[in-house]
Formats: sequence, C-alpha cells, structure tokens
Amino acid sequence: MRIAVGADHGGYPLNERVIDELRASGHEITDFGTHDGSVPDDYPDYSLAVGRAVESGQAEIGLIICGSGVGASVAANKLRGVRAALCGDTYSAHQSREHDDCNVLCLGARVVGVELALEIVRAFVAARFTGEERHRRRLAKVAEIERLENSKQ
Ligand code: RB5
Repeated sequence: MRIAVGADHGGYPLNERVIDELRASGHEITDFGTHDGSVPDDYPDYSLAVGRAVESGQAEIGLIICGSGVGASVAANKLRGVRAALCGDTYSAHQSREHDDCNVLCLGARVVGVELALEIVRAFVAARFTGEERHRRRLAKVAEIERLENSKQ
C-alpha cells in the first residue's frame, strides 16, 4: 500500500521503527519526518502533511504519531475526507477500518510500547472496510455533519 507517515518530536523514534517494518513488508512509504526528536516541533504540521497526502490520493492511508496521539488525531480530523482513529489496541485498529472506513491511524508514542504499536499498525494496515449497509449509512451521516459545518457562514 501507499502509506504516508509523519511524527512530531513526541512520536520520534517510533516513526522510524514503524517505517522500517512497513518497508520490510513491501509498502511504499512517504516519510514526512521528523528525523530529529531533539527539536521541538508542532504536531498539526504532520497531521496536515499526512492528511493532505491521503486526501489527494497520493497515499491510500496515513499514520501520524505524537506523544499521546490525541493532538495528531484532533488536527487530522479537521481535513475533509480524513477519518483519523487514535488507537491503543488492536481491536480498535481493525474495527476502525472495517466499520468506520478510517484512513488515518494515530498513535501515542508515550502511551504504547513499540511492540504493541507495531501490532496496532499491522492490524490497521491489513483490515478493509466491509462496506456493509449499516456502516455506509453511518458514514453518510458523518459526511453530512462535515457538509453542514463547511456550509456555515
Ligand atoms: C508534544 O510535547 C506533545 O504535546 C504532542 O506530541 C502530542 O502528544 C499532543 O497531543
């Protein structure tokens, strides 16, 4: 898959570990950094870069890592068409794809250990939206919320 990955200083060096694993599994990675965890930076910059890559189709899915994963997910969900899931367990990771058609995974590098993070990433990457009617109906309602917000004066 084409996967965009970004992490702020709080997400480093988990991003490097995840990218190594994804590349070893044959995925095509667009790496938005950071490559230096000692320089304080701002998670919205990475959410924007990864979110735009997904929104434009350059990447099929995205992965954003910050300290808690919270800021990254809040910022990414501001982008049209981005459905970002903050996951700390494998069940949420695959269900977020199967039911909610999430296209961005957010992780908290200060919350989950490396091995759990890798399992969460594997679960998210391997899962697919089931396309069932009830999930489509709910997603249409989510899209309607976005449309209503965007049409506000
Ligand atoms: C950075 O210190 C930290 O605030 C950020 O990585 C993230 O956890 C925000 O939600």
